Amino acid sequence: MSSPTRPKKLIIAVDGPAGAGKSTIARLVAKRMNFLYLDTGAMYRALTLKALRKAVDISNAVQLTRLAKNTRIDLENNPDGSIKVLLDNEDVSTNIRKPEITKFVSDVAKVEGVRKEMLHLQRRFGLRSSCVLDGRDIGTVVFPNADRKFFLDAEFKTRVSRRHKELKDSREAVTAEEVKKDLKNRDTIDSNRECAPLKKAPDALYVDTTKMTIEEVVDTLLKHIRVRANRHNRPNGYG
Ligand code: DC
Repeated sequence: MSSPTRPKKLIIAVDGPAGAGKSTIARLVAKRMNFLYLDTGAMYRALTLKALRKAVDISNAVQLTRLAKNTRIDLENNPDGSIKVLLDNEDVSTNIRKPEITKFVSDVAKVEGVRKEMLHLQRRFGLRSSCVLDGRDIGTVVFPNADRKFFLDAEFKTRVSRRHKELKDSREAVTAEEVKKDLKNRDTIDSNRECAPLKKAPDALYVDTTKMTIEEVVDTLLKHIRVRANRHNRPNGYG
């Protein structure tokens, strides 16, 4: 007797620089497809929060690696598609978005030992069910065999104004000049670090979101995911 066919788990990788729209788009795509959404940047942010609270020297790779090994980070999807970030069982979803975390997160994320711990965690999450992961190295390192890969980008000026608006909306008092400085600094660190730098996977679809609406970007991704799923003759009741 043949067993009923179960849809294969799909992994969708969404990479790109800060402010390109990754988290908004990845969250909406996951919601439309009824997939899990994993914000991998949130994991690095949670560890940065713990490091600052414990006054760990951010330039000390050994201490940061030890901290990563002794930290529990969980991501849960809320019914509205947003995520809850748990740091050693404490909900830190709001705290990790503060400018002081943003300022140091790239320095924490460039440490090889830290990335190794996060890699295990991200792969474990990815095996749970079909999911959309957003980050910097998902298509290149974490899931090089992802079913579909996207690299979202936008002009620097647009990325700055999006990030500034996002912070203003969450009532953070930062100037456009500060956001500009932070993005430039993070772009440089994230793209030039030795371990898993931000770069487009050769087989990722490059999407310049500068002049696109959120809905247009979401539709572009969904179209490519479905074309691919159909081409491989997979059961396709995805959203
Ligand atoms: O997406 P975000 O702004 O929340 O990410 C915060 C930082 O984490 C980002 O500056 C680089 C790092 N990061 C990373 O190195 N690799 C990932 N997969 C995700 C984020």
